Amino acid sequence: MSEEMSPIDKAKRAAARSAADMVEDGMRVGLGTGSTAAWMVRRLGERVRDEGLNIRGVPTSTRTADLARELGIPVVTLDEVGTLDLTIDGADEFDPHLNLIKGGGGAHLQEKIVATLSDRMVVIADAAKDVEALGAFPLPIEVIPFGWQGTQTLVSKALETSDVQGREITMRMAGDQPFRSDEGNYILDLHLGRIGDPRQLALDLNQVPGVVENGLFIGICTQVVIGHEDGRVELRAPAV
Ligand code: 5RP
Repeated sequence: MSEEMSPIDKAKRAAARSAADMVEDGMRVGLGTGSTAAWMVRRLGERVRDEGLNIRGVPTSTRTADLARELGIPVVTLDEVGTLDLTIDGADEFDPHLNLIKGGGGAHLQEKIVATLSDRMVVIADAAKDVEALGAFPLPIEVIPFGWQGTQTLVSKALETSDVQGREITMRMAGDQPFRSDEGNYILDLHLGRIGDPRQLALDLNQVPGVVENGLFIGICTQVVIGHEDGRVELRAPAV
């Protein structure tokens, strides 16, 4: 099977398997969303089946919940466990401080809640996501459908005084319909080019009425596992 995999998938899989092997018996584990996270869930499924690994998983989307159940991973709700030992998730970008852009899959709201309630968040990624400054990847914000155009106007205004390079905003679509998150909300993608002060921007965006959550994860990720297509992995800690 691995002969047919693209180099990027090989890299994602290497990172995902390595992080899945950090999971220990008895852990409550946050299960991220996306193609890299799906490799991690598959590896955990193998460990549950082959080693009898005893874990409880809290999925961050219906997609991940469906996959985890299919693979025999016991799935519980966040409220059943309250807090988690470890969350493993993908990311769209990470910087030297391990600040992240997430939400390429539109699941960053649940992902941020789950990761924040975890003792550790390990991000799994291929090397292309390693950036000096966040922002080349469009920053997703989840907004409620009510008055979303007004919300977009207020976000544009907030961006006028933000340290960013670009300010275009697009509505995420699924075919000819707006994309809907698991909560039924819309996603606006902010094409910022470069974000000078991610922490400040995250605070400013969440001040706008109608914005439910932005895709900046500041000070949440504790370690990144970077996968390479030859199967090697590198571990990255936050720069001090
Ligand atoms: C979903 C996410 C994903 O983790 C992120 O988009 C990375 O996805 P992939 O592993 O498919 O590259 O934040 O909301």
